[in-house]
Amino acid sequence: MIAVSDARVLSAQPLEDELQTELSLRPRRLKEYIGQQKVKANLEISIAAARKRNETLDHVLLFGPPGLGKTTLGNILANEMNSNIRTTSGPALERPGDLVAIVTNLEKGDTLFIDEIHRLPAPVEEVLYSAMEDFYIDVVIGQGPSARTLKVEIPRFTLVGATTRAGLLTSPLRARFGIVHRLDFYDAESLSVIVRRSAEILAIPITRDAADEIARRSRGTPRIANRLLRRVRDYAEVRHEGRVDTPIAREALKMLEVDDYGLDEIDRKLLTTIIERFGGGPVGVNALASSIAEDRGTIEDLYEPYLIQIGFLQRTPRGRAASKLAYEHLGYPLTQRKQTELF
Ligand code: ADE
Repeated sequence: MIAVSDARVLSAQPLEDELQTELSLRPRRLKEYIGQQKVKANLEISIAAARKRNETLDHVLLFGPPGLGKTTLGNILANEMNSNIRTTSGPALERPGDLVAIVTNLEKGDTLFIDEIHRLPAPVEEVLYSAMEDFYIDVVIGQGPSARTLKVEIPRFTLVGATTRAGLLTSPLRARFGIVHRLDFYDAESLSVIVRRSAEILAIPITRDAADEIARRSRGTPRIANRLLRRVRDYAEVRHEGRVDTPIAREALKMLEVDDYGLDEIDRKLLTTIIERFGGGPVGVNALASSIAEDRGTIEDLYEPYLIQIGFLQRTPRGRAASKLAYEHLGYPLTQRKQTELF
């Protein structure tokens, strides 16, 4: 069993043996993609227009918390444009040569997907500028005084960049994307549709209410919804006859220590630490990170966005603070002073 406190439950980088299942659940076409209506509607227009003009799609930047479907959308864009996709990531492109090797092998109209694009090393990013803007790269031939720069043309392609941290992108890079969309947390209704769709693909018998229950506790994140669905299925198969109804879903989620808000052990630890050790905050993110022995980036990318979204956490210039709602949810009494201080 996966430890509930395991960050993978949240960040849900799928374990190897679950990767195939995860992939089988991903929609391949825009019309199968549930939720993110505004992004979807805008992309529909961009795709239709590019196709009508017989052009490649403008470069696309997708940003937002992990697990919301940035990679899925990248693949969908390539499918809708009938183009091949090459997938890589910022940290994988260590040297300019790594990127040069990829872009010089692209064919006209191909899609290049770069995950975690905010982590591109600066020299690699510089190669990308001319590649994106004018579809050429400068290749340096030779060394020392005899070195020459050769301008090499590359085919027109579409770059799809994905990032959890749009704020960390340099402005010259951001400026080169013609299409920029932020993915938001999903509402419970969309997530329930996703859970039912996944249950159908995986042949899991589930009631509508049980799907709603899983959806409500998935922190607005399809990847978490699909993961919880699989864990609930395990429980239903071992402790019951395999059918998932609401009481069974609740029992399973209780055993996984996923609470009514979908918070897990680390979310709760983060909030209780702010309340108990830092008087409710504000506390700087570095102090918080070392207190709960988590990486600062993990807190910022993975835990905070949802806690802020549901109003449990506030990000202030002086640090992070727990809200009244968080006190109530975790069962802490509010002192008179805190009552007036808290939002
Ligand atoms: N599976 C994961 N994310 C999905 C989405 N947005 N729509 C449909 N199925 C999904």
